[in-house]
Amino acid sequence: MILLVGAEKGGTGKTTLAVNLAALRASRGYEVLLLDADPQKSMSFWSATRDSEGNGQGMTCVQKTGDLRSSVMSLAPKFDDVIIDTGGRDSEELRSALLVANLLLIPIKPSQYDLWSLAKMAVLVDDARTFNPNLSALATINLASPHPGVSEVEEAKSYLADYKQIKVAESVLRDRIAFRRSTRQGQAVGEMKAIDSKANLEITSLYQEVFHDRAQKTACG
Ligand SMILES: Nc1ncnc2c1ncn2[C@@H]1O[C@H](COP(=O)(O)OP(=O)(O)OP(=O)(O)O)[C@@H](O)[C@H]1O
Ligand SMILES: [Mg+2]
Repeated sequence: MILLVGAEKGGTGKTTLAVNLAALRASRGYEVLLLDADPQKSMSFWSATRDSEGNGQGMTCVQKTGDLRSSVMSLAPKFDDVIIDTGGRDSEELRSALLVANLLLIPIKPSQYDLWSLAKMAVLVDDARTFNPNLSALATINLASPHPGVSEVEEAKSYLADYKQIKVAESVLRDRIAFRRSTRQGQAVGEMKAIDSKANLEITSLYQEVFHDRAQKTACG
């Protein structure tokens, strides 16, 4: 699968979700390529930390900016999955990746400014579908309050439901320190010595929605 993690808004958790999903995917036996298309290179820093610390399964990570189409199309056949991380703005990287991706995953914070930004993403998805009609789009709420009493998640989900071209994930990721701690070590939350079971459950649930995969890769793929 070519999975693009993108949003027009910065700091919504694109890189965090991209690397966590990649690590989960790799742990199930899939060959994953990390494609870092953000000039900030956060994904590359995570990957380099992972390699130098020897933390977790290694993954190939390449950097590419500008028009991503030819790189993605030439690299995709060599891997089971390509996971693309783009920066938090409307960019050539985001627009070109939309033309070749199978799924756009949009992490979104349950704040009104972030929710408003989805209107722009909906337009980009519509535009991309003219050329890439099978593009799916999934918005997932990230960085929600960890206090279950707070109703922001349901409010945000009902707001997002108005965008017919973008599905809303059932999985919700809450603000959990494990996501920040694991990043420092180039790990996914489930790879840490002391696993935060709630964070791990949340990302595993999102993984299943994204990849529809509950099992290991079999010998015949
Ligand atoms: N569910 C979460 N719980 C706690 N912290 C999180 C969570 N998701 C992301 N973060 C933290 O929020 C910050 C922003 O996350 P991240 O860098 O992944 O966002 P981004 O969308 O990739 O940002 P940018 O637009 O700058 O690329 C980071 O410090 C990250 O560790
Ligand atoms: Mg990022």
